[in-house]
Amino acid sequence: MIAEHLAEDGLIIDMHRIGVDAPIDASEYDLIFIGTFTWEMGATPDEVKDFVLEVGYKPENVAVFGTGDTQFGGDELFCLAVDKLAKFYGSNWDGLKIEQSPRGSQEFNVKNWLEGVLHDVKRLA
Ligand SMILES: Cc1cc2nc3c(=O)[nH]c(=O)nc-3n(C[C@H](O)[C@H](O)[C@H](O)COP(=O)(O)O)c2cc1C
Repeated sequence: MIAEHLAEDGLIIDMHRIGVDAPIDASEYDLIFIGTFTWEMGATPDEVKDFVLEVGYKPENVAVFGTGDTQFGGDELFCLAVDKLAKFYGSNWDGLKIEQSPRGSQEFNVKNWLEGVLHDVKRLA
């Protein structure tokens, strides 16, 4: 959904599948969206940690989004990996947290969050 919205905005997108695709050169990108699920007791998945190490430094232009499920530990652990990554990167934006998958009203959350990110990026450009 994020990629679709960005494409509608006329932006050029590279999609990287964490743990699948060849490493990226993060310095080539104006903006990097990192998506993650949250695992056992609020943990960041190993694949995502590996990606962080692979990038090797903390780009300043990272926005974080992810899915989670409140069934696995309530609000306290909900999408905790999103918060952890956003904090790690010193992200300018609160992470986008989606319960299970972005259907119904959560679709608006995706759009609103993205508009907020793009608004700031354009303002700072
Ligand atoms: C063993 C297990 C532990 C999980 N722990 C958490 C958790 O601590 N916090 C959270 O928000 N979601 C947790 N989840 C939910 C996953 O993040 C969730 O399944 C995923 O984000 C939704 O993607 P999916 O549709 O691919 O399952 C857990 C799921 C499983 C199976």
